[in-house]
Amino acid sequence: MTAGTLSAGLAFIRNAARRVSAASGWLGRWFKDLMPKGLYARALLIIIVPMVVLQSVVAFVFMERHWNTVTRRLSQAVVQDVAALIDIYKAYPQDKDRTQLRRIAQERLGLVVDFLPVNDLPPPGPKPFFSLLDQSLSVQISRQIGRPFWIDTVGRSSVVEIRIKLDDAVMRVYAQRGAAYASNSEIFIFWMLGTSSILLIVAVLFLRNQIKPILRLADAAESFGKGRDAPDFRPRGAREVRRASLAFLEMKTRIERSIEQRTAMLAGVSHDLRTILTRFKLELALIGDSPEVEGMRKDVDEMSGMLEAYLSFARGDSGEKAQPTDMEQALEELRSDAERHGHAATVTFHGLPVVIVKPAAFKRCLANLVSNAARHADAIAITGHRDHRYLTVTVDDDGPGIPLEMREEVFKPFLRLDDARNQDEGGSGLGLAIARDIARSHGGDITLGDSPMGGLRATVRVPV
Ligand SMILES: Nc1ncnc2c1ncn2[C@@H]1O[C@H](COP(=O)(O)OP(=O)(O)OP(=O)(O)O)[C@@H](O)[C@H]1O
Ligand SMILES: [Mg+2]
Repeated sequence: MTAGTLSAGLAFIRNAARRVSAASGWLGRWFKDLMPKGLYARALLIIIVPMVVLQSVVAFVFMERHWNTVTRRLSQAVVQDVAALIDIYKAYPQDKDRTQLRRIAQERLGLVVDFLPVNDLPPPGPKPFFSLLDQSLSVQISRQIGRPFWIDTVGRSSVVEIRIKLDDAVMRVYAQRGAAYASNSEIFIFWMLGTSSILLIVAVLFLRNQIKPILRLADAAESFGKGRDAPDFRPRGAREVRRASLAFLEMKTRIERSIEQRTAMLAGVSHDLRTILTRFKLELALIGDSPEVEGMRKDVDEMSGMLEAYLSFARGDSGEKAQPTDMEQALEELRSDAERHGHAATVTFHGLPVVIVKPAAFKRCLANLVSNAARHADAIAITGHRDHRYLTVTVDDDGPGIPLEMREEVFKPFLRLDDARNQDEGGSGLGLAIARDIARSHGGDITLGDSPMGGLRATVRVPV
């Protein structure tokens, strides 16, 4: 039985804990959604929140303790004076028209007193919004005098009016507001807001300067990723940002150097091999004509074709600079090329045509896709679409397409699906690999899918 209770209790606790953690996860997500996403806004928030909290606490303590107490003391003193005047009024009825009383009030206490015929007090006036004075005066009057009274702390701003109903008259007293009320609080608030806005302005200016180098680094990294240059990028700002910038620059030079090395090596290889192949062709030509020689000549031709294809793949887009290119025109050229080779091709383009790409490389990328479509299909449709973030070019055809499970495979160099089908057409299986390489060097990619025309749809998307 105890074991049963224990396990029930444990289950309850576990359940409760799960619920709390779920709620806290939800709360955390909600909080995360609410928070600003930018570093700038976050940093500002980090400054503003503690400042507001600090100032609120200070203001609250000040109001609550200091201001309240002072106001209470001050109105207490005023009410004490009024009570004394009432005592004089009662104790010295021989002072017929109350000149002495008035004189004492005016000269010694700074209060203007007169007497109204006894009648009902006016209805209570509107309470001021910030009714600290009203409140503390009322409390003091009822405590010290204990007679019906009426006060007006709103009416004439620098003067407070108090009426007290006596047995045979209504005593009206005008007191200086400053005598009853600690009025320096406005100044306090003014200073508080003033200094915090100065702090805020300083923080905004400083923060902007701190965040600028981070943004610059992000921009430089982004444009390097898209295969563009960031010529005027220099490490700046705080030490950590500078370190990150330096690391980025080093990485960039390392990558560039390795590309350069690859290009140089390829140039050497291609030169050497081409020389040998040329020599070979020459020797074949000297031997004369026979069926064997004809076969060898074909092999050599094929070999040099493959060599060229391989070299252009390995070379990538090295050395070419990105520059503004008219995409609409480039697509139009592809279409007319395809048409010249006897294929029905259409082209459409939406959006601003000028895009920053490496012109020759990007054209080669698209030309590879179009030549694939031309090899496998009759009708080709090229569409370009450019919005504020991406340039998307799709090449559709009505050919056999590529089965779903092969759509990643075909990007591998030297992989051909139709090896057996059309060996003589001499594809090397590098077209898609090169095209993807180029798209990626622009920070984009190529995907394959089904075309509404029935064949393959190849989609190139690069950021603009
Ligand atoms: N539009 C297409 N329709 C059907 N199959 C395609 C299409 N495009 C490519 N393929 C298939 O993908 C394979 C790889 O294409 P890839 O362009 O890489 O090489 P290739 O065209 O054979 O040779 P290369 O482009 O180097 O001359 C092709 O062999 C072909 O089987
Ligand atoms: Mg191809």
